[in-house]
Amino acid sequence: MHQTLPREFGRFKLIDKLGMGGMGEVYLAKIIGPDRFEREVAVKLILSHLSRDGSFRELFSQEARLAATLHHPNIVSVYEYGRIDDTDFLLMEYVNGTDLRTIIKRIEGGDQMPEEVALMILHRIARAHSRKTASGNYSGIIHQDLSPHNILISTAGEVKIADFGIARALTDEATGGTTFRGKASYMSPEQVDGREIDHRTDLFSLGTLAYQLLAGKHPFPGSTREDTIRAVSKAEHIPLHEARPHIQQAVSDAVEDLLAVLPDDRPENAAAMAEALEPHLDATAERRLGEFASEERKPSRRELTSLTAPTLARPARTKFPLAASGLILLIVFTLFMLLPDRTPEKPDPADSKMVASASDHSTSRAPNLSNMRIITEPPGANLMLNGKPAGKSPAELTLDPAEEPFDVRAQLYGYKPAVNRLKPGSGESEHIIQMIPLPVGSVPVNAVPWARVYHNGKLIDTTPVVLENLPVGEREITLRNEILGIDKTLKITVLEGKNEPVLVRMGD
Ligand SMILES: Nc1ncnc2c1ncn2[C@@H]1O[C@H](COP(=O)(O)OP(=O)(O)OP(=O)(O)O)[C@@H](O)[C@H]1O
Ligand SMILES: [Mg+2]
Repeated sequence: MHQTLPREFGRFKLIDKLGMGGMGEVYLAKIIGPDRFEREVAVKLILSHLSRDGSFRELFSQEARLAATLHHPNIVSVYEYGRIDDTDFLLMEYVNGTDLRTIIKRIEGGDQMPEEVALMILHRIARAHSRKTASGNYSGIIHQDLSPHNILISTAGEVKIADFGIARALTDEATGGTTFRGKASYMSPEQVDGREIDHRTDLFSLGTLAYQLLAGKHPFPGSTREDTIRAVSKAEHIPLHEARPHIQQAVSDAVEDLLAVLPDDRPENAAAMAEALEPHLDATAERRLGEFASEERKPSRRELTSLTAPTLARPARTKFPLAASGLILLIVFTLFMLLPDRTPEKPDPADSKMVASASDHSTSRAPNLSNMRIITEPPGANLMLNGKPAGKSPAELTLDPAEEPFDVRAQLYGYKPAVNRLKPGSGESEHIIQMIPLPVGSVPVNAVPWARVYHNGKLIDTTPVVLENLPVGEREITLRNEILGIDKTLKITVLEGKNEPVLVRMGD
């Protein structure tokens, strides 16, 4: 629902919307106490269909309880998981700044991040990940979604990991679904293959992040999600010392160790990485990162209310780092912030949770555009608006009256594609699409001599297997025999009920 801000939410005053992710919307809020006590916090309001889902709530609250036990300067503190008026919320420390995804987008746009700054960011993440508990042991809590959108950077240059452990609440185990969630390009091979994971999955993600920041390019740059999954699954990449030859040997070795395909070949924790980075830390890096975060940060509506000249053009970007020029930025951003809620983002093909805009108004907006949030039951469907890709549900679409009528198509594995017409003028700001499941069939699969069978990026089992509940239609399965080094991907046509067995000769 789009409601005007600020607004009350229990004992909180929601001041500004900071962003939206796979679980809900994040707000800057104030806790108002007696004697004019005020405290700024971040509140994540959980999507209504998740707030109603008992198994999700149970797992989410369990993860939030664990996350609340983590106290570290480089981890966003979790204060509370609660419920107000049927809406679940997660109360967190507010990080005034931006996230690493925004910074990386800028690097990809041409600005190069200085190596000392990249090393400092990585050092902070590695240090937080290898933190010890009060008893001196490494705490084995898995983040499971260690990717740039969950690394927050404050205007003072602090680096803080957000959403520790919380991603787990959205896994298939919790929701009972079969969809593959998360950002494949930052997952580990065992995670994309659907095998069992432990804390070493995060070490691989850290390696991916490190590579990306230091080489200036992603180690697994697939043009489609499937390409990315294939590359991640084999950890196939150009070694860092080849991609960026002048990088210090100890650092590139530490990154390569993290990117080992087998968890057993990775270090036991991120302490070695933190140690390798320590000699290369630069005292000015934090300040320079803070300046960069200040430039990228969106000012809140509250800050903008004091401004009266909102129509200056956006200046050309200067090279990193730029001295903080807060006032100019405030004015530049006024135009965006006085218009409806969210700056549209371009979806990344390997990124399943980004909020999408169907129209390409990335730098300006006509005044009468409206926003509509599309929710599918279940979530995770690929959306198209008037034939253009519009990200995954739940997503907030920007509707341009010039493009009316608005037909949104939702496509999700195992469900019939659905096409709905949106009616933004009717007061509807949220549109729910109920997906209808396809009929299913079972297919016995065998291989000579044997193979592991994968479907949708998940390991099903070693042959012989019976693939149960496959939605009817054409499906792709992969058979892999690691000993013979053979991979076979084949298309099978699934009919409703029992299907003829499929036999695959791995040697052919
Ligand atoms: N504690 C916080 N302080 C300040 N900003 C935050 C905080 N937590 C999140 N944000 C902002 O809100 C945005 C949305 O966060 P959210 O965690 O909901 O989505 P996400 O990280 O993009 O995806 P995911 O749901 O997979 O974590 C973030 O990108 C960040 O900019
Ligand atoms: Mg997040």
